[in-house]
Amino acid sequence: MSLTNRQYRLAARPVGMPKPSDWNLTSETVAEPADGQVLIKVLQLSLDPAMRGWMNEGKSYIPPVGIGEVMRAGGVGKVVASKNPKFAAGDHVAGYFGVQEYCLADPARLTQIGLSKIDLRMGTPSQWLNALGMPGMTGYFGLLEVGQPKAGETVVVSGAAGAVGQTVGQVAKIKGCRAIGIAGGREKCDFAVRELHYDACIDYKMGSLKEGLKEHCPKGVDVYFDNVGGDILDTVLTRINRKARIVICGAISQYNNTTPVKGPSNYLSLLVNRARMEGMVVFDWAERYGEAIRDISEWMREGRFASKEDIVEGFEAFPETLNKLFSGGNFGKLVLQVAKE
Ligand SMILES: NC(=O)c1ccc[n+]([C@@H]2O[C@H](COP(=O)([O-])OP(=O)(O)OC[C@H]3O[C@@H](n4cnc5c(N)ncnc54)[C@H](OP(=O)(O)O)[C@@H]3O)[C@@H](O)[C@H]2O)c1
Repeated sequence: MSLTNRQYRLAARPVGMPKPSDWNLTSETVAEPADGQVLIKVLQLSLDPAMRGWMNEGKSYIPPVGIGEVMRAGGVGKVVASKNPKFAAGDHVAGYFGVQEYCLADPARLTQIGLSKIDLRMGTPSQWLNALGMPGMTGYFGLLEVGQPKAGETVVVSGAAGAVGQTVGQVAKIKGCRAIGIAGGREKCDFAVRELHYDACIDYKMGSLKEGLKEHCPKGVDVYFDNVGGDILDTVLTRINRKARIVICGAISQYNNTTPVKGPSNYLSLLVNRARMEGMVVFDWAERYGEAIRDISEWMREGRFASKEDIVEGFEAFPETLNKLFSGGNFGKLVLQVAKE
């Protein structure tokens, strides 16, 4: 067996939006697995906003990707050869394989890359990167554990039609809340109401967000699940209720800034309303992913929960496809199809 593995390696730390010259496309021959190793053919890669942060120098909740290293990314794949008793050729697996066509995983790295088997009877490979994967876990635990919504409360979600936002809106509805989305464009807003069961979705690119919130949240906002930060966070802060909970999940509007991150100038609304704003990192619930996967897969089987992915074909399309996240060019969880089975 002689296989060639192509990889996207980080060539330079981007300033602003990543450019083609920030990447190096390299290739090498795949080695045969040694004792304990597992060789995985990567089928699909998860393209996530967090990848932009991992390209920056400096400490975050995990170390940055080094210059010259294969870019970090989650994915799903199929074991093609295994010298590890826990995995067999033909197994479908998920893990942080990196932006490459094959991943040779050492026993020491199996936990580090989070290698786990996936059951395709519960969901398709791309659903394992979305509702049953990291974004689904983020929306489920972020809303239920940090947002702590109660039935009847109003939950507002930005990035409402995106990967995390889909789960937040649908879980909020299943738990008996009023769910109001914020998304860019009519098509995404219509989808959020029709397929994700939001009560309403405000197109922040058209008209006034403040007016939209007044109209659709007449009793104010009890939980705000923030995926975008910036001006949208600032505006929602003007509408929060007493004891509101604001979940800081992400701030995608700020990730490509070349100037300092814009913090919320309306933060004194937290004081006036005795409200709470709390950050979250999904990996803190890793031990409990099974609970969320059980619930979400059950809801999917019952036809109460949609998982929408935007699948782009072709490994070479990686650099421009990643950038779609920052212009709203993705419609659903962004997935790169690297290979077919
Ligand atoms: N804390 C954690 O553990 C964790 C885990 C996963 C993800 N996250 C965060 O969750 C957020 C959503 O991630 P995702 O994977 O679900 O991505 P996504 O929502 O599927 O895709 C990103 C979306 O962000 C919106 N967006 C881009 N630029 C924007 C801007 N300037 N202002 C407002 N909206 C903008 C676009 O939607 P529109 O077209 O609707 O504008 C775009 O489609 C990100 O901030 C990410 O970093 C955090």
